[in-house]
Amino acid sequence: MYAWRLHELGEPQDVLRWEQVPDPEPHAGTLRLRVDAVALNFPDVLLCRGLYQEKPPLPFTPGLEVCGTVLDGPRTGERVLATTNLPQGGLAEQVVVAEAAALPIPPAMSAPTAASMLITYQTGYVGLHRRAQLRVGETLLVHAGAGGVGSAAIQLGKAAGARVIATAGGPEKVRVCEQLGADVAIDYLSEDFVPVVKDLTEGRGADVIYDSVGGDVFDRSRRCIAFEGRLVVVGFAGGRIAEAPTNHALVKNYSVVGLHWGLYRSLQPQVVPETHAALMALWEQGLVDPLVGAELPLGEAPTALTRLGDRATVGKVVLVPARAA
Ligand SMILES: NC(=O)c1ccc[n+]([C@@H]2O[C@H](COP(=O)([O-])OP(=O)(O)OC[C@H]3O[C@@H](n4cnc5c(N)ncnc54)[C@H](OP(=O)(O)O)[C@@H]3O)[C@@H](O)[C@H]2O)c1
Repeated sequence: MYAWRLHELGEPQDVLRWEQVPDPEPHAGTLRLRVDAVALNFPDVLLCRGLYQEKPPLPFTPGLEVCGTVLDGPRTGERVLATTNLPQGGLAEQVVVAEAAALPIPPAMSAPTAASMLITYQTGYVGLHRRAQLRVGETLLVHAGAGGVGSAAIQLGKAAGARVIATAGGPEKVRVCEQLGADVAIDYLSEDFVPVVKDLTEGRGADVIYDSVGGDVFDRSRRCIAFEGRLVVVGFAGGRIAEAPTNHALVKNYSVVGLHWGLYRSLQPQVVPETHAALMALWEQGLVDPLVGAELPLGEAPTALTRLGDRATVGKVVLVPARAA
């Protein structure tokens, strides 16, 4: 089979190579999948650059989440959604995944939609419900609302009965946030979101802030978090990890809440299928439906990852192997 692999770290377009490699061998407790769709995540870009918290040995294949069809054993032919195990990621024609990680998908769900409903939606659901305890009628501020993580959080916030304010970089992305259901969307490249959030909440601020950008965006978010608010630290797409002064949290009576969805897979594994069942139910009720901003051939992985790293994508970017297209 063929897979995208990198033998050295760097920018995706410089280091990814399309190589023939042996078919992966399944063993006890695993399933071999034909990859039907692989969804990209910002961490795939960081993995190529060697800047992600996980550093797989070289050579490795990026790609953290796939929708695929089981190729062997009693589950042959079943379509599943799964996270992968680096160094054997999903940017390949086949991949072996842990059987316990293989989640069922509704027959009516397309492979690109399914592949888009794992990491970002699980992170959003666990982040908003479990970590931030978002309640009906509360105000949720979602930063980078047109991105993968942000677009899922807008939909999940609305499905949870919150009023959703989103920020995004530029008028086009602001429109995307509105189409995703945000009640108000702010272009944070041209306008300070702090006074807007305060105006919209009669000076109170947002009850929950879902921040995947970090840096200055985190710093400014502390200025518009409500009394008893929860500021969820999701990621650092902006590149700088902000400091959280504890005296400020004390004086304003808010919480800074860390979120690392991947840890649930090892420390509380039952959370993943439970969350998956809740997400599939929301999809079947029409309350969430991932924005697949681009569906491209698997052969375009380097360009697609470069665009993701350059802030030039909306929603999820999904790659489809040629034979499954
Ligand atoms: N905590 C967890 O468990 C967890 C799980 C999944 C992902 N994450 C993290 O969440 C973050 C977002 O991931 P994603 O897959 O949603 O990525 P994405 O689709 O590329 O979205 C990231 C968004 O961040 C904004 N951004 C602001 N400054 C940026 C910069 N300098 N470079 C690139 N983007 C910038 C961009 O939106 P605007 O142009 O609108 O600003 C961009 O669309 C990443 O840091 C990722 O590691 C965390």
